[in-house]
Amino acid sequence: MYQAIGNGRGASSPDAAAVMICDRKDRLPSGYRDLDKSLGGMIAAAIGRAEFKADRGAVLTLYPSAGSSRKRLIERLYIVGLGPEKKLDSQALRLAGAALMKEAAKAGVKRLTVHMMPGVGKTLQPDDTGRALGEGMTIGRFSFDAFKGKASSDEKTPSAGKTLAVKVEPDCLKGFERGCEVGASVNLARELAATPPNVANPAYLVKYCRSMARRVGLKCGVVDARKAKELGMGGLSAVGGAGSTPPAMIVLEHRPTGAAGRAPVLLVGKAVTFDTGGYSLKINNSMLGMKYDKCGGMAVIGAMHAVATLKMSTPVVGVIAAAENMVDSSAYRPNDILTMVNGVTVEVTNTDAEGRLVLADALAYGCKQFKPQAVIDLATLTGGVVVALGSSCAGCFCGDTDLRSRLFNAGDFAGERLWHLPLWDEHRELMKGSHSDLVNSGAERGAHPIQGAAFLSWFATPGGDPKRIGEIPWAHLDIAGVADVKNPTPLYDKGPTGFGVSLLTKALEGWK
Ligand code: BES
Ligand code: MN
Ligand code: ZN
Repeated sequence: MYQAIGNGRGASSPDAAAVMICDRKDRLPSGYRDLDKSLGGMIAAAIGRAEFKADRGAVLTLYPSAGSSRKRLIERLYIVGLGPEKKLDSQALRLAGAALMKEAAKAGVKRLTVHMMPGVGKTLQPDDTGRALGEGMTIGRFSFDAFKGKASSDEKTPSAGKTLAVKVEPDCLKGFERGCEVGASVNLARELAATPPNVANPAYLVKYCRSMARRVGLKCGVVDARKAKELGMGGLSAVGGAGSTPPAMIVLEHRPTGAAGRAPVLLVGKAVTFDTGGYSLKINNSMLGMKYDKCGGMAVIGAMHAVATLKMSTPVVGVIAAAENMVDSSAYRPNDILTMVNGVTVEVTNTDAEGRLVLADALAYGCKQFKPQAVIDLATLTGGVVVALGSSCAGCFCGDTDLRSRLFNAGDFAGERLWHLPLWDEHRELMKGSHSDLVNSGAERGAHPIQGAAFLSWFATPGGDPKRIGEIPWAHLDIAGVADVKNPTPLYDKGPTGFGVSLLTKALEGWK
């Protein structure tokens, strides 16, 4: 697979071209007439066939022959489906881009021109078209080979070379370039997420963030385990207490020039590098896959990477709570009572409800330290949200209608959908303790995703003050169902999706 997408402008003649076609059989889109003529009418002939369908992400490969013309022709022409014209949206472009990328890689294409011409769909702006295409092509070229060993085939280094030079329509170009940047940030989150827990422990994430921050111009600060104890981060310290490396709170800051004095948007991510459940141990092999319990944090790292590389004008701070939930004599127990960084006490009723404990400290610390204008946290928090919503959307808890619609719109564009779930005072009642302020898992058997959100609401407040619930615009995204796919999809191979990176990037663009 290609390691990069390069710029195809000014490149010598391409060896392949692609045309995007909606599924409507009546006629050739007007913009394709000249191209079709130069190819001897082969596009019109192909799409005129009765059996032709341009399903989303379907790719038909044609092989133009030089014939009588003396002009050097492209070797391959891809006709890429966008699905029904009435349903054309950014996700159709993303799926098309990913499918096209896979075909090009198979054939070892080096230079590709993508045509998206007048008459193809009327609903999408050129900028959004380019953006989604760039994201799709970049997401489609992801492969995770770092741990392929001696028994693997040698497909790691393609004969095709490492870069695919892509030329797009001029009015799509800016969006396309940004889309490739966003896609690279999505892939960065996916690569970290896929890295196994014996490698990607909290110390690894600290090191990774430090060097990534240096590379892209973010500020990186780390609250290490000793400092966390000093500051009174009882949640992070307890959950990470038995980890193979100590827990850490990683802080990434994007402070654009000219934004001094503006309150940042705060992103908070759960990065439990492995979740055994602790003494409330996960049973029946439900521990398998828990390397993905760091995906909320990886989405925040990916989004911060995008915010920096796209040079966004909004100040953004990312806080990543990194800990490994393991078992040994230094592990925390059920019935332990912890004091969180904002002075709230929590009785541990289940050591497997660890995400909310590390997030509580991260939210309260972030709110106190950075006085954000809005807070968004992402976490693979509950199995319950998978039961409720499956894997086609994340659960969103947000009482602020402006923030909510901003996130929903961004999610619709990104193809990372959200669904709103309720959070009321009666849910907060479920989380109250008898020997402590709160318990980390309520006695009620139902509504686990809401219990998690209710618990967090004491910490996402001005200054982390538990008496000021609901005063900051705050959204909690439970991404347990969407952080990875169990079977390959047209966009993703089996494994992590980087859910949240594209959504957050879109939401943060143009944020006042
Ligand atoms: N990391 C899990 C949630 C999870 C489950 C993510 C399945 C992805 C797939 C989380 O830490 C957890 O164990 N949650 C418990 C909470 C319960 C003990 C209150 C759960 O959902 O069962
Ligand atoms: Mn757990
Ligand atoms: Zn967990």
